[in-house]
Amino acid sequence: MPELTLIETRNLVKRYGDKMAVKNVSLEVHKGEVFGFLGPNGAGKTTTIKMIVGLLQPTSGTVKVAGYDVQTQPLLAKASSGYVPDTPNLYAKLTGRELLHFVGDLYDLDRKQVAQRTDELLRMFDLTTAADDTVDSYSHGMQQKASLASALMHDPKVLVLDEPTVGLDPKSARLIKDILRQMAERGAAVFLSTHILEIAERMCDRIGIINKGDLVAVGTMNELRSLGKAGEVSLEDIFLGLTGGAEEAEIAEILK
Ligand SMILES: Nc1ncnc2c1ncn2[C@@H]1O[C@H](COP(=O)(O)OP(=O)(O)O)[C@@H](O)[C@H]1O
Ligand SMILES: [Mg+2]
Repeated sequence: MPELTLIETRNLVKRYGDKMAVKNVSLEVHKGEVFGFLGPNGAGKTTTIKMIVGLLQPTSGTVKVAGYDVQTQPLLAKASSGYVPDTPNLYAKLTGRELLHFVGDLYDLDRKQVAQRTDELLRMFDLTTAADDTVDSYSHGMQQKASLASALMHDPKVLVLDEPTVGLDPKSARLIKDILRQMAERGAAVFLSTHILEIAERMCDRIGIINKGDLVAVGTMNELRSLGKAGEVSLEDIFLGLTGGAEEAEIAEILK
């Protein structure tokens, strides 16, 4: 059976004035896969993600989510995906439970489904005891979990997360990693961005490396490693080599 492609970008370009933030990015993410979008700050990760979830109009190129063109079939595409932004942007005066009910209503779930799903998600994210506190009283980690819970409310086929583990304690980071893996095992496609190599390595089946708007390499960890010469080059060297990281000599120069 052919792999089912759930995210497809073709020659995706975003220009801000003279600046090309994203240059001809073509990639595919399949059902059952956790895909890591790895690159240094300013590489174009957030810009690409916003085009995938339909928040930003591409300058040119196309994006399909669950088979729907994000520009010509925006409602169907958006109904198929969940999005967790880099900083939680929640309705601060709602309680956690009210937030999930509200999101369930947005997606037109019926009342019973909303109540049931809310309880399940609160339990899954360890938010049950805080369920009736307002979101603005939550810690960053709790807000991040509430944000992911609301993205999962309609059980999306595609889940897109922008730097999901930034600022999380190890327990929450582990919980999120486990939940993303389970989503993939149940047939979703998960797309997450990170600037941390180790996170991509630990959490993802395949990795795309983006630098200055260019997708410079895509593959499994082993495939990326084989880009290094004779196997003695670490992935860190490959990542830094591809993205032009500072060499040891340069660091020594700066620190002296
Ligand atoms: N609204 C904007 N206007 C102008 N330039 C932008 C805007 N948003 C992002 N950029 C620029 O586009 C590039 C990519 O940004 P971004 O996608 O946020 O990178 P990343 O998420 O990988 O850190 C950066 O150089 C950034 O300064
Ligand atoms: Mg970003």
